[in-house]
Amino acid sequence: MKKKVRVLSGMRPTGRLHLGHLSGVLSEWLRLQEECQCFFMVADLHALMSEYKNSSSLKEIIYDNLADWLSWGISPEKAVVFVQSDVPEHMELFITLSLITPLGWLYRCPSFKEQMQQLRSKEINTYAFLGYPLLQTADIIIYKAEKVPVGQDQLPHLELAREVVRRFHTLYGCNIFPQPQPIVSKAPKLLGVDGRKMSNSYNNCIYLSEDDAGIREKIEQMVTDPQRIHKTDMGHPEVCSVFNYYSVFFPQKRQEVEEWCRNAARGCRECKRILAELFQEKFFQVRKLKARLLKEKAYLEDILSKGSARARKVAAETMQEVNKILGYKL
Ligand code: TRP
Ligand code: SF4
Repeated sequence: MKKKVRVLSGMRPTGRLHLGHLSGVLSEWLRLQEECQCFFMVADLHALMSEYKNSSSLKEIIYDNLADWLSWGISPEKAVVFVQSDVPEHMELFITLSLITPLGWLYRCPSFKEQMQQLRSKEINTYAFLGYPLLQTADIIIYKAEKVPVGQDQLPHLELAREVVRRFHTLYGCNIFPQPQPIVSKAPKLLGVDGRKMSNSYNNCIYLSEDDAGIREKIEQMVTDPQRIHKTDMGHPEVCSVFNYYSVFFPQKRQEVEEWCRNAARGCRECKRILAELFQEKFFQVRKLKARLLKEKAYLEDILSKGSARARKVAAETMQEVNKILGYKL
């Protein structure tokens, strides 16, 4: 049998999951779990690096995110689903890698520079935050993952991971890690209901467990073609977020919407109402399943404990190999 490609990916538990997660990383995960050997991780240590002041609120978000993953179809039978901090080998490898990683490589990371400017209020000018992409490197290579589904913004982190792998191999004269390659979702970037990037911190998200009223209200707020003032004006779907949502989530409707928009056959209000109904239908079963899962804490805990046991087995083997190569341990 052909060996399956090993995949690792993670999401930080920093808030509820929204449509941006679904169109980006989560839909890639759903695809990849069918054909690859996948490790899907709740990256709680990464979340702590910016949320350390609210450390005790992470637990609840972890369960909420996990319930979203499962209700949208991530399967613990197909993938190893676990929480990062349940596998302490990540931290161990992180320290080992920090021995050999020049500070300049970390200072140079664009994500570090950007986040420092954007999240000034979070006080993330810390030692740990500088090491963010290096912990990510440890996450990936401890499973010897070959492919890493990530958002576009994470590409520099994968670049760093490959650099660190090369340095490790050169310094210790070995070749034990694959050079991890990114998989970036082809879905067009999804904007929030206010036309800015969809993000928890902008309060412009449609959440994956949004109820019917929430879906309707948020879609009503959405910015459409600014040139289409009257119902009789012909629209330009290419500049409209509503159309973008149709394209991403209901591609089978794309052509029809484009036609009614350009010909002014339907008004924006109706176009939005139809979109809201489609989402309401799409979310209905999933939301019920999520609510049920959240009531079954023991079941969720069991998934995580089985997942971390499987992950730990692999991680511990790699760590043993690494320690043997470094050769300092008694
Ligand atoms: N930094 C990633 C993000 O914010 C999350 C993450 C942590 C991750 N460790 C990872 C992604 C390892 C891929 C692989 O999206
Ligand atoms: Fe957007 Fe629909 Fe209005 Fe066209 S009809 S501008 S796609 S909301």
